[in-house]
Amino acid sequence: MIPSNLNASPETGGRCNVDRPLGLGTVLLLAFIVSVLAISCAAEADPTPKPDPTSAQSSTPEATPNVEREIARGKLLSQQNGCLGCHTVDGRDQVGPTWLGLYGSVEEIEGGTSVQVDDQYLIESIRDPNAQVVRGYRPNIMPPFGIDDDGIDAIIAYIRSLQ
Ligand code: HEC
Repeated sequence: MIPSNLNASPETGGRCNVDRPLGLGTVLLLAFIVSVLAISCAAEADPTPKPDPTSAQSSTPEATPNVEREIARGKLLSQQNGCLGCHTVDGRDQVGPTWLGLYGSVEEIEGGTSVQVDDQYLIESIRDPNAQVVRGYRPNIMPPFGIDDDGIDAIIAYIRSLQ
């Protein structure tokens, strides 16, 4: 009885031997799948740390996104208030002088004076257009605009960006 039991165990062992090649194949396949997954995970993981240095870089000049938002707001306000109906942003003169390259330039004023275009001049030009009329243009064409300081700042940022 005992020997027959002992004989049975080598038989099961034999079955195991038959199974082993399949097991190895499965293990190899699994290893393959795992390595493929690991590679794809690594590939997925790679872009994740990449935006971090970029956001770290963009956070350094923190003003940039804010300035761009301000410029976009100024552009929208200029459209909404009809400024762009009289002023171009591409260098062409229209009813009023172009805004292209305006900021920082020296503007000749009716009466023989000249002024360097800065924030103060732009604020005055928007609130009280007849205070200093640009040479070659007529007064009383541009209406005075009661835009709040915040809106004026945005419009100035927009004009400033048009270089
Ligand atoms: C109906 C036409 C008209 C509209 C609308 C208009 N402008 Fe003008 N703008 C003019 C004319 C004409 C001049 C030149 C005469 C003068 O200096 O007042 C001028 C001059 C200016 C100047 C001075 C430009 C320079 O070359 O020195 C600025 C700045 C300006 N406008 C801003 C604005 C803004 C901002 C708006 C909208 C909120 C606006 N304008 C709307 C006609 C217009």
